[in-house]
Amino acid sequence: MRSSLFPFILAALALHVAKVNSAFTFGKHDHSHSSYGGSCGIHPTQIASTEEHFQKHKGNRLSDSHNTDYAWATIAINFHIVGSNQTVLDIIGRDERIEAQMKVLDEAYAPARIQWKLANVTRTINETWWAKTGEGLFDEDPTRPLDANPSEREMKESLSARDSSVLDVFVVDLVPGPSLGGYVRTLPGWYADDPKHELERDQVDGVILNWNALPLHPQPSAAEIFTGKVLVHEVGHWMGLLHTFGHGHEAPGSCEGPGDYVDDTPTQAYATHGQLTAKTLEQCIPQDSCPDIPGLDSINNYMDYAPEVCQHEFTPGQIWRLRALLDLYRQIPAY
Ligand SMILES: *[C@@H]1O[C@H](CO)[C@@H](O)[C@H](O)[C@H]1NC(C)=O
Ligand SMILES: *[C@@H]1O[C@H](CO)[C@@H](O)[C@H](O)[C@H]1NC(C)=O
Ligand SMILES: *[C@@H]1O[C@H](CO)[C@@H](O)[C@H](O)[C@H]1NC(C)=O
Ligand SMILES: [Zn+2]
Repeated sequence: MRSSLFPFILAALALHVAKVNSAFTFGKHDHSHSSYGGSCGIHPTQIASTEEHFQKHKGNRLSDSHNTDYAWATIAINFHIVGSNQTVLDIIGRDERIEAQMKVLDEAYAPARIQWKLANVTRTINETWWAKTGEGLFDEDPTRPLDANPSEREMKESLSARDSSVLDVFVVDLVPGPSLGGYVRTLPGWYADDPKHELERDQVDGVILNWNALPLHPQPSAAEIFTGKVLVHEVGHWMGLLHTFGHGHEAPGSCEGPGDYVDDTPTQAYATHGQLTAKTLEQCIPQDSCPDIPGLDSINNYMDYAPEVCQHEFTPGQIWRLRALLDLYRQIPAY
């Protein structure tokens, strides 16, 4: 069975990768802040209310950003691999890919004193979940995540741990295409913001990841592009971090406004782009999208959109913020 199917799948992969390359040639305009897709699923309308909730409820204990003596935390993670059939499952969610992804997560979050524990890996054959997840993402009313994509909701409801402190990652073939590496539908404060939302958690929470984005892609040219940083970035959102270039809660391309609410990430008007040929860290040359404000754009930051080879840091301000958010919203104590 495998030998006859394999060529088909490889052909499909080739198509994906070609699309990946062209999608990565986005210009400034295509990274418009008004694009829902460019925001990894988080809509600007959620940002102000969840930020307000955070400011109001973080209290004195979580207010001191100089207290960086964080407790080591171990977060349980489940991978839910979904495929249209066994052949697909075997290819997309191989154990080695998950192991490699775990290493990347551990390395990225070690400075925040976070370790990851692989809890459960589920493998499910469901053609609808595999093929429909992400469908309509750019057209949905993002303020109503529960109205979104019914099969995604059913998938989450059926597979998730239903526990705010456990990270569920759903690995599927994303409809909007391989240029969309993954998304989360909400910031964690959203659940606390309105008690009704907590009841909907098991249909909304968790990270949706394009299978392409796991490390060790079967096609070498894709494996070079995707080294596991997409999940690092999406987990940042799952914890509550925003893009270093904001989310459109200010005017598109603007150097005004609150940005990501983090003091030590330089103000950035739009996502890093145009570094498409960067194959080594030395080739990651930051742009300066707000030249009148100190600091170059955060090309090395996980929460920008630079090629993965450039991404290797969270700032101390982001680390403080993610630990405070995890403490307040996901029962993972900061101290
Ligand atoms: C398995 O799924 C892939 C992709 O969806 C498809 O191309 C292939 O024909 C399927 N194989 C079987 C046996 O259904
Ligand atoms: C597959 O997905 C559909 C659509 O969400 C759902 O109705 C069905 O129960 C799922 N099947 C399995 C075996 O989980
Ligand atoms: C892993 O699966 C087992 C068995 O279904 C369950 O009891 C446990 O809570 C799961 N762990 C997590 C972290 O989801
Ligand atoms: Zn994002």
